[in-house]
Amino acid sequence: MSSIIEVKQLQKSFGSLDVLKQITFEVKPGEVVAVIGPSGSGKSTMLRSLVHLEEITGGSIFIHGKTLAENGKYAGSAAIRDITSTMGMVFQHFNLFPHLTVRGNLELAPRTLKRESSQVIAARSMELLTKVGLADKADVYPSMLSGGQKQRVAIARALMLNPDILLFDEPTSALDPELTGEVLRVIRQLAEENMTMIIVTHEMNFARDVADRVFFMDNGEIAESGTPEQIFGNPQLERTRTFLNQE
Ligand SMILES: Nc1ncnc2c1ncn2[C@@H]1O[C@H](COP(=O)(O)OP(=O)(O)OP(=O)(O)O)[C@@H](O)[C@H]1O
Ligand SMILES: [Mg+2]
Repeated sequence: MSSIIEVKQLQKSFGSLDVLKQITFEVKPGEVVAVIGPSGSGKSTMLRSLVHLEEITGGSIFIHGKTLAENGKYAGSAAIRDITSTMGMVFQHFNLFPHLTVRGNLELAPRTLKRESSQVIAARSMELLTKVGLADKADVYPSMLSGGQKQRVAIARALMLNPDILLFDEPTSALDPELTGEVLRVIRQLAEENMTMIIVTHEMNFARDVADRVFFMDNGEIAESGTPEQIFGNPQLERTRTFLNQE
């Protein structure tokens, strides 16, 4: 099966700091990739590059075989919009709009795009809120929600444009431990529904459990990758072992 995400020799530097050094990988449709690694290793920068939240300085990114960036240069804005509209991203700090209700947060992007009627959009927002267990919170504002509820709203919002790729950047690391489970359950359900996902996480048990493949990032590179059994059970590199022992 052909890859849904193809990244070749991706490079990113901030001034003289090389944050991503020639990163190359592919993701197949329905695959779940967990990205682990120490702070500052480039995990967020890699993820953000995939949706053009960063300007890369080298390499290429293809999504569904379409060119998002080639030789360090992103495609034109129409192509970027077209490609990234198939991708949803969920951040550590939820990034909900505080002045909009839960439902308003979900419906903002699709209403702005005007591709569908209000009724269709409203029906989907209720359907997705039901899916994440928050139908009863549709009309409240984000400030009324717990962290776990906010993150479930953020996931529902990311699903509103029917993405076929979801990217998560430490979706549970701002949450108290007792709220982490409810968010991981939603992500696990998406994995069971064969959503293609890249999940940056510090939850090693979750990564082991839900991922098809694990990337260990260190110092701007994918230092080691493999199945969860390989990475957690029999890591090849000393630095992978050192990292896992600290977690
Ligand atoms: N806008 C920026 N300007 C300059 N340097 C940056 C910028 N954003 C990130 N960096 C640097 O790039 C490196 C990688 O950062 P990144 O946020 O991708 O790491 P990370 O693996 O996500 O870390 P964490 O686990 O702490 O989230 C770090 O050294 C960071 O200081
Ligand atoms: Mg990060």
